[in-house]
Amino acid sequence: MSQKPTSGAKKPLIRSYGRRRTKGLRPIRTNAINNVLPSVNIVLPDDSVSVDPQSLFDLSVKNVWFEIGFGNGEHLLHQAIRHPEIGFIGCEPFINGVSALCVGIRENNVSNIRIWPEDARILMERFKPQTLDRLFLLHPDPWPKSRHHKRRFVQTETLDEMARLLKPGAELRMATDHRDLAIWLLDKTCFHSAFKWLATSADDWRHPPDDWPETRYGQKGVKAGRPPVYFSFQRI
Ligand SMILES: C[S@@+](CC[C@H](N)C(=O)[O-])C[C@H]1O[C@@H](n2cnc3c(N)ncnc32)[C@H](O)[C@@H]1O
Repeated sequence: MSQKPTSGAKKPLIRSYGRRRTKGLRPIRTNAINNVLPSVNIVLPDDSVSVDPQSLFDLSVKNVWFEIGFGNGEHLLHQAIRHPEIGFIGCEPFINGVSALCVGIRENNVSNIRIWPEDARILMERFKPQTLDRLFLLHPDPWPKSRHHKRRFVQTETLDEMARLLKPGAELRMATDHRDLAIWLLDKTCFHSAFKWLATSADDWRHPPDDWPETRYGQKGVKAGRPPVYFSFQRI
């Protein structure tokens, strides 16, 4: 399945991700793409129909949590194993990462994950309002050059969309080890009228909550002497 980063009659989406694949997948990963992905891949109905994300799961799920840019899927898999009663939707256009998550799904016999191997924004605009209970954006690409800032995932428009989809009181979690991006994320989100930053002390953003495993990018940041910051916001 391949869908262009455009959204109906609206203006084309600015590409926010880098490579879609690197050369050569190991056989175990290729096998997982061929044999696991088809059963967890999200297939949307006709363009005119809005989708309730809960309907994407065979089993009945209490809530839906959504991860944008899951990388190799370590965090998503950890959360899905920990919360079998919750439905997890992960979006990631980098096919090597998708294949890693598919391997994890098979090895752990997980049935509460659905994957959108494309740009998250295309899926988000198809969802009905107030249908997500939690949203994760962990270590989004920093796009450090000023001329590339427009590629950063967090923009006023994407925050508007997250606000539309999250239920009142729902949590939006973000993390980054990139100093300039951290300021950007805070600035854009704190000044958005739909979100409230939940930090009450520096400990709240210097240390992840207990249920928040560090991802590959987070570990890389720690090793390189760039400890990540962790932001939790509430949809007002
Ligand atoms: C720096 S990596 C972090 C991966 C992972 N969250 C982690 O912490 O290890 C950022 C990821 O976001 C993905 N990404 C960027 N733009 C995206 C979009 N519009 N929709 C979904 N994923 C996106 C990229 O492909 C990339 O894998």
